[in-house]
Amino acid sequence: MIELKSPAEIGRMRTTGQFIAQILTELGELADVGVNLLDLEHHVRGRISQRGAQSCYWDYAPSFGNGPFRNVVCLSVNDAVLHGMPHDYALRDGDILSMDLAVGIDGWVADSARTVIVGTPADEDLQLVRATEEALAVGIEAARPGNRLGDISAAIEAVATENGYPVNTEFGGHGLGRTMHEDPHVSNKGRAGRGLKLRAGMTLALEPWFARTTDQIVYDPDGWTIRSADGSRTAHSEHTIAITEDGPEVLTQRLPLHADPA
Ligand code: MF3
Ligand code: CO
Repeated sequence: MIELKSPAEIGRMRTTGQFIAQILTELGELADVGVNLLDLEHHVRGRISQRGAQSCYWDYAPSFGNGPFRNVVCLSVNDAVLHGMPHDYALRDGDILSMDLAVGIDGWVADSARTVIVGTPADEDLQLVRATEEALAVGIEAARPGNRLGDISAAIEAVATENGYPVNTEFGGHGLGRTMHEDPHVSNKGRAGRGLKLRAGMTLALEPWFARTTDQIVYDPDGWTIRSADGSRTAHSEHTIAITEDGPEVLTQRLPLHADPA
């Protein structure tokens, strides 16, 4: 079931979205050579408790994962792309770090992710990060009343294909609002003109993620951390959006940051 949100409810999600955007900006500034992933986790924990927000990740226990998630942010480095568990690891020059954060404030949830390159970026890594950002932008652009879900998926897929990246279909975007995951599933691959008709009031998290040379994934023994099966490097960009009569509104928009690779 898809619950359409009122403008007031979208406003509550915007409040949450701005908080998440601010934290992702801070994490982008903090992430540097030598910084430990656990320091980033602790920064987010501090911000969440200070704000009286709720982590959507803490104690999240889906069918995958060995037991509930016990962190508040996903930090995925290099070939790790989704659900990376913060652990004792100091970032190294050239690492690609994907940071994914979902929280609720007063019962309204938003979800966003960004990827930064630590220290000196390799050209092919910059291209990969930019491709996920461009795919996100065109996916957002397609999120309009009257379009269909397949228009979003096809727009995302086209950017991957132009860049030569295969697309995995096991994990993609999703509805959200009262909870982190609601209907519909938003595949990063699809056919334009097909699928659910988009309507004003739908709130979606769009989240293109690509690995350079594979669409296959493998799980770490923790059951959480998802990596490219061939070890190739990965990136992930995600925004929470609302579909309005006037078109898409990004609820997790960040202010531009000089350290942004794009
Ligand atoms: N934010 C992720 C998503 O977009 C979910 C991460 S769940 C966690 O679907 F428990 F791994 F954090
Ligand atoms: Co998400």
